[in-house]
Amino acid sequence: MPTIDLRDADAITELLSAGNIRYDSAMSDPLLVCTTTSEAEMRRLSGALAPRLKAGDVLRLQGALGAGKTVFARGIIQTLAGADEEVPSPTFSLVQTYDTRPAPIWHLDLYRLEKPNDIWELGLEDALETAISLIEWPDKADALVPPCALTVEIALIAETGRKVTFSSAGDHRQGWSRRLQGLKTEAQGIKT
Ligand SMILES: Nc1ncnc2c1ncn2[C@@H]1O[C@H](COP(=O)(O)OP(=O)(O)O)[C@@H](O)[C@H]1O
Ligand SMILES: [Mg+2]
Repeated sequence: MPTIDLRDADAITELLSAGNIRYDSAMSDPLLVCTTTSEAEMRRLSGALAPRLKAGDVLRLQGALGAGKTVFARGIIQTLAGADEEVPSPTFSLVQTYDTRPAPIWHLDLYRLEKPNDIWELGLEDALETAISLIEWPDKADALVPPCALTVEIALIAETGRKVTFSSAGDHRQGWSRRLQGLKTEAQGIKT
């Protein structure tokens, strides 16, 4: 890694244009931070988010293996598709689709994606506009994930404790901020 002087605007511009540094949504201030202490609580949190989602929404689900990305996606899918809907992890299939209202859900897990461009063969281009896309391991195809995405970062804080940080970059922060209002309180009120 080259060292640069952070007061040197030209050096920074050069690094940015060389693609060495990207503006990462995870670098932006969080919009909302929640903690969950069980899997059921996590499903309530994402279940409360579900009715706020619409066609064209993209969620980047980040976090280590076993953090709870699939659990989070399951809470959204079962809220829109019905509690009986089976939601397997798309680890091997890469994508599972659900015929939900107000928009179909595409649940992707890009962990096994070898070449980022292979993602287009799945038909993602259309889905990004017409579906609700829930993407685990979005870093595998970072350049293809639109900047309007909501980043959901899940961190393990104990065996069943998880910290969930919502963030979004630039222009899209305000819109998401509005749509996340009251989420925490609502999630606490949902019984499962
Ligand atoms: N608070 C919590 N939120 C989500 N999952 C939890 C929580 N506490 C324990 N778990 C467990 O952690 C695991 C998360 O698995 P999964 O969602 O498949 O992870 P990922 O998709 O991030 O690899 C599950 O076994 C779940 O029961
Ligand atoms: Mg998973």
